[in-house]
Amino acid sequence: MSSAKARTFKLLQQLAPESSPPLAVLHRHTRRHLASAAAASVTATPATATTSAAPTATLDQPGPSTPTPHGVHPSPTSASSSGPPLVDLEDLSEVDPSAAPGTAGHCGPCPVRQQCLTTGVHVCATGGKGGKGGVPGEDIESPLAESLRFSTPGLPKRAKARLAGPSGNFWYAVEVDANVKNEEVVAAVFWKTSIAIWRDANGKLHAIEDRCAHRQLRLSAGFVEGETLACCYHGWAYDEHGKVVKIAHEIPDAFRKESMPVDPTPGETVDGAPCVSGPNLPKISVRTYPIAVKYGLIFVFPGDPALADSVPLPSIPHLVENPALAHQIVDLSVNAHWTLIVDNNCDFMHAFLHRKYRPFVWPHLKSTARIGDTVRVEYLTDMASSPGAKILGTNTGQDTIVLEYQYPYQRSDLANKYAHICFLLPIDEKRTRTFYIFTWKEMKAGPIDIPNWIRPPIVAGIHKLYLVPVLKQDLYALEEEQACNDLHATKNSVELNPLVSAFQSLTVEKWQEYLDSERARRQSMSRRNWRASFGAGLSDWRWADL
Ligand code: FES
Ligand SMILES: [Fe+2]
Repeated sequence: MSSAKARTFKLLQQLAPESSPPLAVLHRHTRRHLASAAAASVTATPATATTSAAPTATLDQPGPSTPTPHGVHPSPTSASSSGPPLVDLEDLSEVDPSAAPGTAGHCGPCPVRQQCLTTGVHVCATGGKGGKGGVPGEDIESPLAESLRFSTPGLPKRAKARLAGPSGNFWYAVEVDANVKNEEVVAAVFWKTSIAIWRDANGKLHAIEDRCAHRQLRLSAGFVEGETLACCYHGWAYDEHGKVVKIAHEIPDAFRKESMPVDPTPGETVDGAPCVSGPNLPKISVRTYPIAVKYGLIFVFPGDPALADSVPLPSIPHLVENPALAHQIVDLSVNAHWTLIVDNNCDFMHAFLHRKYRPFVWPHLKSTARIGDTVRVEYLTDMASSPGAKILGTNTGQDTIVLEYQYPYQRSDLANKYAHICFLLPIDEKRTRTFYIFTWKEMKAGPIDIPNWIRPPIVAGIHKLYLVPVLKQDLYALEEEQACNDLHATKNSVELNPLVSAFQSLTVEKWQEYLDSERARRQSMSRRNWRASFGAGLSDWRWADL
């Protein structure tokens, strides 16, 4: 975002009354009106603005060493004496707080965590260390609320499938491993639930509920120190089990047992500040999640933790055979329900969309079969017409490709020569993050096999010049489909591919099964926690997330 847009956005924030809704949700005409006022005041009084002590003056002071009250640094170019030019207000959508993680400005309006609107660098309003933050305002719905909505009488299967979430009792890729460095924290959202992923100073990864037990701030807005994750507000620090092990303020007498510390614990600090710690702190904890790394991706098990050990991480046969086989991760965010992406990846009838790149031509649907929690589809199609296939000589003409919705993953296999897997991270009903991995067991230059050691740049080239452009065509169509389905929610769709109905059945069944099991699990957990807490005194708390 340009410095002019950044300044105008800040001015709009200041002009809006405290009780106003976030700017991004203001009616377009209201935004235009506010923008005119903001632009007029800046253009007309640049000299006053640079000398006044009012917040607007701070905005126009030059240099990165003069943060605004929220820690946002103006660009050096903002010192222009002629005032900023008028900006196109429609571009303010860049700071929409509901934007998907990873998009520009997604944490712009957050009062605690700010992203510098000129440099894109995350800065911490508290002046200390800070995590990358997450999606502000995520709503964590209970299984009961989801169930009620999902069971609305008369809801057709198609509509149910588009409301359905993913069963949490599987491993989900939530982030690229390389994106979380030592002593960093990032937020990932799995179906409306934000999870803080953090790596301690020893390189060990952890996943924890993204809320502080104190006042619910996001822990992903905090910071990692050694082997703890600290909240940015009052400095409560959590260990790998989600337990509070340091508190950076006194425990008032009203809540303190005799055994609990009164004075700061010698030698212990939170980011240099005094704190109490030790075995006699109040028992406070938040939920943690099983976490693992495979194929360069971080996987989390968001459902019943007791099942995590018995549910295998997904595997990629080509990489099982040869873990060193050259491959890359394609990380794409799509503004569409996750099942639309599964449909798209398996419904080859959309060859028309890719008529320029020709990854598959005039496919013939040979079979559709449901086998347990997998829907398997076979197409006979020409996969040798694309420029990539011609260069690599991998395919010879008509081939049978198997595509599977192997719940909750989607994968393909072309005669054990070429394959892909798509890991989906459903964020909510309209947003999904995807991680694709493509593998080539065979890769040829004419009749010659290309050895694996020289494949990485070739694989990188295929991704850049061919696969990603093809996927972006899909992304465009998917976002269009989501938007238009919302627009025509009550209209019938004419569907000619039988796999779509089979996919919807599997999605609806698995979601209902998960909602039922989660409700039962949480109810029993709640009863257990209540019994454990009863009589333990006011100093003992345990988490119960019904
Ligand atoms: S809100 Fe987290 S420590 Fe107070
Ligand atoms: Fe496609």
